[in-house]
Amino acid sequence: MATEHLNRYLSLAASVSRRVADEMVRNGRVTVGGVKVLDPGTLWDPSTQEVRLDGRTLVPVQEEKIYIMLYKPDNVVTTMKDREGRKTAPSLIGELSSRVFPVGRLDFHTTGLLLLTNDGEFAYRLTHPRFGVEKTYIAKLQSIPRPAELNVLRRGVAIEGKMTTPAQINFIEKKGGKAWVMMRIAEGRYHQVRKMFEAIGHRVTKLRRVAIGPLEIAGVEPGEWRYLTSKEVREMNAYMDRRAVEVAGQKPPADVPRHPKRFETPADRGKRKVIKQSINEAARRKEIEKEKARLTEIQKTARYLKEEVDAEDVAEIVSKWTGIPVSKMLESERTRLTQLEQELGKRVIGQHEALAAVANAVRRSRAGLQAPRQTTSCSQSRPSRRRTA
Ligand code: URA
Repeated sequence: MATEHLNRYLSLAASVSRRVADEMVRNGRVTVGGVKVLDPGTLWDPSTQEVRLDGRTLVPVQEEKIYIMLYKPDNVVTTMKDREGRKTAPSLIGELSSRVFPVGRLDFHTTGLLLLTNDGEFAYRLTHPRFGVEKTYIAKLQSIPRPAELNVLRRGVAIEGKMTTPAQINFIEKKGGKAWVMMRIAEGRYHQVRKMFEAIGHRVTKLRRVAIGPLEIAGVEPGEWRYLTSKEVREMNAYMDRRAVEVAGQKPPADVPRHPKRFETPADRGKRKVIKQSINEAARRKEIEKEKARLTEIQKTARYLKEEVDAEDVAEIVSKWTGIPVSKMLESERTRLTQLEQELGKRVIGQHEALAAVANAVRRSRAGLQAPRQTTSCSQSRPSRRRTA
């Protein structure tokens, strides 16, 4: 049993707007199957019930089907109305015998082929994924994708947790670091083309839809429109029938991979550069800090030696505590100084001229340790060189 909304039927059969039809029903002027109804949305069965207005039978009229192709220009919304007062695609068509609705959407800045119709079934078939209607776009990209990146789109890419179905995609032109590509997809998700390129790190700067299935926009200029021929409508219907069969035989899109391959966007690349720079700077700062600490240590040692603290005396005191022979300690002190010298020569001198003076001081002090005496008690064998207050 095919049913229909009373107000819709009434507006067609009595040639009045939907609002006026609603009023007629609410005012008790309409009967369905001999019974008065007051709800404009009442469903009725045209095959068994008669509708009367003010007692007169309404003869069902066949609504003329209208199919239009419009070249949507830039800066136009696809909706019937816009709260912000922007220009709408249906307003470019003007008054027709019947109201037509846009089929699907194009973004505010996307241009190209938009179909408008009053044929609900046609619109349904055009937009339902079951019919897999392919839309062809030409996109200008801010940068040139690598073949491997395009392959990702060809296979399907995750957008908001759902894989896209495979896309056909080819380069049209590469010039001045930018690219023009042709892309054909059988889905119509929100901002799909832009998001697909975004997913592989490339920004769409211009987007034009040039074809829907076999229908091409060629020959219509931006802002212009024309009726589809009945041949075009027939071809489109045949195409949708074919596609429905093909789509039914296709595998569903793969699940979103747990670890999808991630491509860097230009923004990511920028961020990575900044992060790398700051890591390098942090490492450099750390290196400088280390260098400074080493310098301080060297300076301290140098000062210690310069001020003529007698290494041998210190060795002797430490020897008493540790039991390590003084000669061994002096030996290790010499090694330490040699290392310091090398370090000063290798790493610091040249970078910090001031260190040259320190190095000299170390060298001078080391000269005093060149010939350690063979004794275990320095304090008894020679006078202490320790500074006196
Ligand atoms: N994909 C987009 O990103 N925008 C459109 O307008 C159409 C498809």
